[in-house]
Formats: sequence, C-alpha cells, structure tokens
Amino acid sequence: MLRWFQQYHAQRALPDDTGQLSKDLLASLMVMAWFVEAKDPYTGGHLWRVSRYANLVSKAGGLPAPDVARVTLGGFLHDLGKVAIPDAILNKTGKLDESEFEIIQTHPAAGGRMLAGHPLGHLVAAAVELHHERPDGRGYPHGLSASMIPIDAAIIGICDAFDAMTSLRPYRKPMPLEKVLAILRAEAGKQFNQFWCNHFLALAEQGELDAIMGHSDDGIPLHICPHCGPTVLQQSENKAGDLLACGVCHSEMMLCEQDKHWSVKPTGKKVAPAAWQPKADNVLIKRMIEDSISHIPMEQLIRFSR
Ligand SMILES: [Fe+2]
Repeated sequence: MLRWFQQYHAQRALPDDTGQLSKDLLASLMVMAWFVEAKDPYTGGHLWRVSRYANLVSKAGGLPAPDVARVTLGGFLHDLGKVAIPDAILNKTGKLDESEFEIIQTHPAAGGRMLAGHPLGHLVAAAVELHHERPDGRGYPHGLSASMIPIDAAIIGICDAFDAMTSLRPYRKPMPLEKVLAILRAEAGKQFNQFWCNHFLALAEQGELDAIMGHSDDGIPLHICPHCGPTVLQQSENKAGDLLACGVCHSEMMLCEQDKHWSVKPTGKKVAPAAWQPKADNVLIKRMIEDSISHIPMEQLIRFSR
C-alpha cells in the first residue's frame, strides 16, 4: 500500500497534488474515526464536539494557524485506537472491572501503533497516543509529566474529559455544566494542563461553548431516542420530513424543523434492524478537511516511511 502511495507521489509531485492527496488521505482517516464512533450509540457527535472545543481553545491560547488546524484534526481523530477495544467493554453500561479498565487504557497506544506508518500519522500522533496523559504524571500510557505532554494532547485531554462529563451516558444523565466546570477548576494543574484549562474555563464562562455542547454539528442538536435514550444523529444532508431511527431499539422518528430549530417526532413504527445502518457524514468530513488542511504548510503534510 505504501509503495503505491510512494509511486503516486513520485508521479504527481507538484504541490497541488500533494494538497489533494493529503485531503484524500485525511478523509480516509476521518471515515475510520467515524467507524469507531458508530460502535457506540451513546457517543454520537463526540468527535465533532472535541474537535470544535479544541479549535476554540487553541485559538484562545494564541496558537498559530497551522497548530490550530493540527489540534482541530487531532480532536476529531484522537480516539482512533478504540477500534481495537471489544464492543462489549466499550458499551458496557455498568462500572468497568480492573481488567476491563486495563483493556480500555490500551486504546491510545493502539491508535499510535496503527497510525505509525500512515503518511499523515505524524500530524495527529500526539493527539492519538497522549490524550490521556496528565500533568501530575498519573495518566496513561506513559505516565508523562507536564512538560513532556505535547500541546495537542494537553488541549484535547481537557476537551475530551469535558465532553464525556457533559454528555449522556447509558448509566447517567449529562452532568450539570457548573459541576463540570468546578471539576475542571479543581483538577487544573493535576489532571489538566493549567494554562489550557484556564482558557477552556474562560470560554465556557463566556458561553462560547454553548453552541457546541449537546450538538453534533453547527446548528444541529443531538436528538435523543424518546423510547430508550441513545443519541440519534442528524446528518448534514438531512431535511425536514426525513425518517431517522434509533440504533438500539430501532424506533422510527421523523425529523422536524421550525424556525431553524430541529427536533424528532416518533412515528410509532419500528424499522427492521438491517434497515438501520450507521453512515459517515461525508459533507461534515469534507468541510472539516477544507477548513483545516489549507492552514498546514505542504512540507508538514505527507511523510512516507522508508
Ligand atoms: Fe480516549
């Protein structure tokens, strides 16, 4: 596969082609990330939200545009390694036992290994492999101390934890925002990088994160199955009157829109389980690629391993 990319690159070594090849390669990585998200019916929109939070925080902290773009992409791709985690553990509704927790903790290193030979892997390697490291050295997989944790991982670690706490889980409702912010304040400098946590808190207090929380895209709220509770994703191309279905109980619902506010209304029918299949939102993926990759210098893009 790599040889094919090298030949492709050698034949089409013009900067324009490098840009297009980078977009194609990035699209493949983002679709892979969507596969992982589709494994869990409760985490709909998590990757988009983490990516959006990471974008705002990195801008607020003054990072230059190429770094903001890289951190934004890392936010979307950070959990790629979860593809290696059995669904029974990923979707367990009860508390994880010690051995299950050890298996969950392998996902950052697994993601790092899987990306090692990918021509764009270096762009997001820190986000993927190190987003569960902590400044106090109690994180995983390496137990790095504060100064050794790259900016990408420090920012995404905060955004990931915030989204986990403010999102619905099968075993609990979203935690109230004030409680989550209190946890961030208490953990700044311990679980979370102090500098980036301060910027995150300032954005949250100014209401700058409100349009991201509880959403799966710009202007699109997360819908919750009224029968059994998991998220039901509305995609960019959906319009009022479209039928969606819950991935767990397969209840059908109709998408409604009034004054740009979206909601779902149960139809009382069920779809056949085989008729409900997750689907990557390719419009959203394309938009995210276009918004980010033009900010990253060509020489920082594709790297072929030798
Ligand atoms: Fe993770």
